[in-house]
Amino acid sequence: MALNSINPTQTKAWAKLNSHFEAVKDAHMKTWFAENPGRADKFTIQWEDFYVDFSKNRINEETLTLFKALAEELKLKDAISKYFEGDIINHTEGRAVLHTALRAPKDANVLVDGANVIPEIHEVKSLIKTFSEAIINGTKKGYTNKAFTDVVNIGIGGSDLGPAMVVDSLAFYGNHLTPHFVSNVDGDHVNEVLKTLNPETTLFVIVSKTFTTQETLSNATTIREWFLKHGKQEDVAKHFVAVSTNIAKVEAFGIESSNIFPMWDWVGGRFSLWSAVGLSISLAVGYDNFESLLAGAHKMDTHFKEEEFETNIPTILAFLSIWYNNFFKAESEAVIPYTQYLNQFATYLQQAIMESNGKSIDRSGVEVDYQTGNLVWGEPGTNSQHAFFQLIHQGTKLIPADFIGFTQPLHGNNDHQDKLISNFFAQTEALLNGKTEAEVVAEGTSAEIIPFKVFEGNKPTNTIFIKQLTPESLGKLIAMYEHKIFVQGVVWNVFSYDQFGVELGKQLATKILEEINTGSIANHDTSTSNLLKYYKKNR
Ligand code: F6P
Repeated sequence: MALNSINPTQTKAWAKLNSHFEAVKDAHMKTWFAENPGRADKFTIQWEDFYVDFSKNRINEETLTLFKALAEELKLKDAISKYFEGDIINHTEGRAVLHTALRAPKDANVLVDGANVIPEIHEVKSLIKTFSEAIINGTKKGYTNKAFTDVVNIGIGGSDLGPAMVVDSLAFYGNHLTPHFVSNVDGDHVNEVLKTLNPETTLFVIVSKTFTTQETLSNATTIREWFLKHGKQEDVAKHFVAVSTNIAKVEAFGIESSNIFPMWDWVGGRFSLWSAVGLSISLAVGYDNFESLLAGAHKMDTHFKEEEFETNIPTILAFLSIWYNNFFKAESEAVIPYTQYLNQFATYLQQAIMESNGKSIDRSGVEVDYQTGNLVWGEPGTNSQHAFFQLIHQGTKLIPADFIGFTQPLHGNNDHQDKLISNFFAQTEALLNGKTEAEVVAEGTSAEIIPFKVFEGNKPTNTIFIKQLTPESLGKLIAMYEHKIFVQGVVWNVFSYDQFGVELGKQLATKILEEINTGSIANHDTSTSNLLKYYKKNR
């Protein structure tokens, strides 16, 4: 059964939230903190190795009560059951959405078209395990009988961003294999990567759910041609493997069936790192770490499915985001991890969040008259403090931010860690309290400069404080955002799991490429025509 279609703005709870917003929109959080010493405890969820403090938000208890009522009116619990049970919630593509099944235990039972998909998931997992262990321990070798040293993931979008982000985030746990990611159809990208590689010791993993994606097939073809300048056709089997749902197309490309790792159409590309799409993860950090990543995600799945509203981390984060997006009219939100390892985390989330909820047609096929998916962006702290934090502190835009930190560093350098965490705490405190005119005056600032040094504060943040960056905690963190996306999609009444919005540009690119190849330029708007002519003259 598909999800219900209910316009959230027509609910009783939404109307009450509107009046509530009018009543609290100008309140300063620091007043609430001063009035209520229990505020931080009240708005903190401690779960496993996660400490999630959402008290620095422009909410009070009534805000949460009203959002709980909204969740009930929108039948969120029912939607969550449908999500986990394999209902066709990706209605526009006629598919279930079951990335959660990929991390479910062996004895789980998840039905798609009446058949339990768990056994085949675990079969593929054991293929991943056997293959990655043989590559890592050197029993599987290249065509000149040398052990592999490098692994290149060839894919784009969900077939790149997820594995690339996880491999980068878990670099601490990496082995001797050097991972590389080739995604862009820009030939300079692939050539830049190739120039560092030895064909005798490099494994290529072609990842494409559809195996029709222009970028991936072009890069795979270029790489195979490069490889064949060194090895022979029969050596391809030792160096090229593929992950896809489209077995026929993979075989037509020349990959042996024993080198194909299957996936399923009920796994969305941007949520696929838990499937064989994560083969590069398993190769880079070992299968056991890959398994721990999945186990962490499964724990978050259970938390999300079973926890009550008040202590449900993804649900609370989703409602806070909706509060700012739809009531305060915030256009974006930032994600600031205080670890360099999560350097690619915001980029990964951009696809997960914006490809999912960047929709303007509701589940009844009608254009929405309220805001849906917001922009997400970010960079690790402390670097970002020296870049865009000025705008968050003193700009005209409201930018709610998630601050993600870890209590223990991986390399054990407590001197650096204490400095890092001091910044982590200081920023959210500064964003909360700001700096009053009286404080600026007390510093002896000259009258003319005073207004420039005043900070309004009252800028909302969530602090997601985790014990340590491990495969398991990373799994929990990613799954936390996946479920936040789900809840937001349910509330905004959109279909979160299709991505028709990326098709139009792709279709036009195919047409334009044909025009470039044939030299016969069709009718375009004058801007595009001029650009094509200019390119033809200058290429
Ligand atoms: O960008 C659109 C998209 O379909 C993504 O959703 C997907 O992750 C990506 O292209 C790559 O697709 P494929 O894995 O089929 O090559």
